[in-house]
Amino acid sequence: MLKFKQVSEEELQRQRDLCVENKALWGNEKKYFIMTFGCQLNDNDSEKVAGLLREMGLSRAENKETADIILINTCSVRENASGRFYGNLGELKALKRANPNLIVGVCGCMMKQDVYVEKVKHSYSFVDIMFGPADIWRLPEILNRRLRGSRRVYDISNEELIAEDQPVLRERKYRALVSIMFGCNNFCTFCVVPYTRGRERSRNMDDIVKEVKTLAADGYSEVMLLGQNVDSYGKEIREYRKAYNNVFAELLRRCAQTGIKRLRFMTSHPKDISLELLDVMAEYPNIERHLHLPLQSGSNQVLHDMNRHYTIERYLNIVAEAKKRMPDLQFSTDIIVGFPGETEADFEQTLLIMDKVRYASSYTFQYSPRPGTPAALAAQVPQDVVDARFQRLVELQNSHSLEIAQAQIGRVCEVLIEGLSDHVDDRYTGRSSDNFLINFSVPKTAFPGRLREQTPQAKGDYLEGKFCRVMITEAKTFSLTGEYVDGLPDNFTE
Ligand code: SAH
Ligand code: SF4
Ligand code: F3S
Repeated sequence: MLKFKQVSEEELQRQRDLCVENKALWGNEKKYFIMTFGCQLNDNDSEKVAGLLREMGLSRAENKETADIILINTCSVRENASGRFYGNLGELKALKRANPNLIVGVCGCMMKQDVYVEKVKHSYSFVDIMFGPADIWRLPEILNRRLRGSRRVYDISNEELIAEDQPVLRERKYRALVSIMFGCNNFCTFCVVPYTRGRERSRNMDDIVKEVKTLAADGYSEVMLLGQNVDSYGKEIREYRKAYNNVFAELLRRCAQTGIKRLRFMTSHPKDISLELLDVMAEYPNIERHLHLPLQSGSNQVLHDMNRHYTIERYLNIVAEAKKRMPDLQFSTDIIVGFPGETEADFEQTLLIMDKVRYASSYTFQYSPRPGTPAALAAQVPQDVVDARFQRLVELQNSHSLEIAQAQIGRVCEVLIEGLSDHVDDRYTGRSSDNFLINFSVPKTAFPGRLREQTPQAKGDYLEGKFCRVMITEAKTFSLTGEYVDGLPDNFTE
């Protein structure tokens, strides 16, 4: 029997009973509003919070003003997050004054850092409930204590268990997020995540595959497997280590075989990613033709100081092996500028690697010192130097993005439609398997009769989650523009 640090079935049943009790205590027609910051793991956590609140009879509020409970799911990966957090709390204070029955809750990564917890306790004591990222499954109990009269329930545990079979209220119809593991063991010297999310713990492979199968059967078009370092999935479980060369590659293979139409995953770590994983990607066409592979820096010295445990030589070798197997693969990355000790020569190295790899897109960040991390104590690169480097980095990336986008003109690609495009009426948006964002028009005749004269929003709702082929006609730095070719069902059944 494999050993997982799971919440027991009795305990989960107790929480389910408390959902029923809370529903009775709280009353009917209550509404929730959740504000989510940070990464997709946080998005998925908010979906779990929403799932539990639904079990307590709540529905989603259109806005904060009409909500009976407002939760902020926080991120603390960079400094700018904290300013926004306090700004939001200030706004909630006014709402709470207007409606004393409003329950205000804070959760997420900031709640695992003393500075923020103390600040909330002392300066924002109107906050009713507080819990950590590993405590979501205990929300029914935390709320129960609040509803039974406890003024404040601040309950952040140090225990980090996995709760299976949790209700999830999914945000998107086309993409289901599936967390396959929690926490991180890597302690990159700039990063708070190992402190906020605790040690790496993987879910049972059978549970994950079962979930993906169910999602495919329920009509989800895309599943995104999530973890801070998916390549170390399952490595802490001895039975998996013995049975498989690379546990994540095996998981990805089994997920690809479930019948799900498109499978994405993130984040890969260059120190752990395996050739077997690349083989599996190449073998299954329903796995995305895109690899997000954080570089962080192009300098071996900086990578060493960041505690990243790979060299540029290894990184470039993975890129070459991946391209060998999948010539049409697109790459994206994360890069930090101005890490303590980064010299001009180090920075030039980063630009050089960008020129070599040619990322279709990158998330570029200015180094942000985080409380409790080793790099925060080192001498910092002056802000004007960071600004100048950042500018150069963004310009280079934008020129690469545009160049790669322009090379797509004339191509016909399969797009998973996400819905109505935010920006232009009567245009729809979606992504290709290689992760290009594509805005495109669809002729009236492609819609079923009843829908043709309806609002763009109604058409967008109809299209969400469907696939079609789109011809690329125009390229921009951050998106492509195209025209519908075919692929939507001919005989519409609504
Ligand atoms: N687990 C992922 C990254 C999670 S955080 C990985 O290892 O790649 C997402 C990105 O935020 C990181 O890749 C990094 O580029 C950036 N980041 C994290 N901490 C940061 C900090 N203190 N300052 C600036 N950027 C940071
Ligand atoms: Fe942070 Fe490094 Fe872990 Fe990524 S691998 S979450 S950057 S410590
Ligand atoms: Fe932020 Fe926590 Fe994700 S710090 S990036 S929400 S793991």
